[in-house]
Amino acid sequence: MTDGGAGHFITLEGGEGAGKSTQIVRLADWLRTRGREVIATREPGGSPGAELIRKLLVEGPAERWDGPTEALLHYAARRDHLRSTVWPALKRGAWVISDRFADSTRAYQGYGHGLDLAMLARLHDVAIGSFQPDLTLILDLPIETGLARAAGRRGTETRYESLPRDFHERVHNGFLEIAKSEPERCAVIDASRDVDTIATAIARNVAERLGA
Ligand code: TMP
Repeated sequence: MTDGGAGHFITLEGGEGAGKSTQIVRLADWLRTRGREVIATREPGGSPGAELIRKLLVEGPAERWDGPTEALLHYAARRDHLRSTVWPALKRGAWVISDRFADSTRAYQGYGHGLDLAMLARLHDVAIGSFQPDLTLILDLPIETGLARAAGRRGTETRYESLPRDFHERVHNGFLEIAKSEPERCAVIDASRDVDTIATAIARNVAERLGA
């Protein structure tokens, strides 16, 4: 069912306002200067169907969905995103960079909302098989800094930010736990530094781990 093909799949993860979108633009530019075809995409979203589901997830009141419903919606969006956007690109040898992927479900719905991680692993398997990123870069930033940054630029997408501070604390710790448990796939990047320094650290990781 899953098809990684010949390309490379890189995901950027982290809490709110960690600077992922800025760094994805920088990484995509850097890879293109090295002659690579690059697709930059995001979750929830990244395909017409998944963008429709995104609206359901990121808008409205926090209590709109409970944790299991959110997890199911994220995986419905993810399956459509993979089938429509990611897998075809990987098949033709492109480098695909996604702003968030399955580690966000583990961190937000698992560590944040308290869903069983083994259940989420089963859901992952049912929805998308054993497919995983080749490299995951976790942008690590104190939660206050991230939430303050995110608050400055939101339109209607405020649903997750409106969750309490201890939720975001659990999400933050969750990402660090994931990185610790899968060091071959994950690298933690200190995102409290300036944009250029972070971009250099990311490029070094991609070069060392994937031979960009
Ligand atoms: P964004 O702000 O990075 O675009 O992400 C939208 C929100 O969706 C963000 O608050 C994190 C949340 N999210 C989850 O809770 N679970 C997931 O699986 C994904 C991909 C995102």
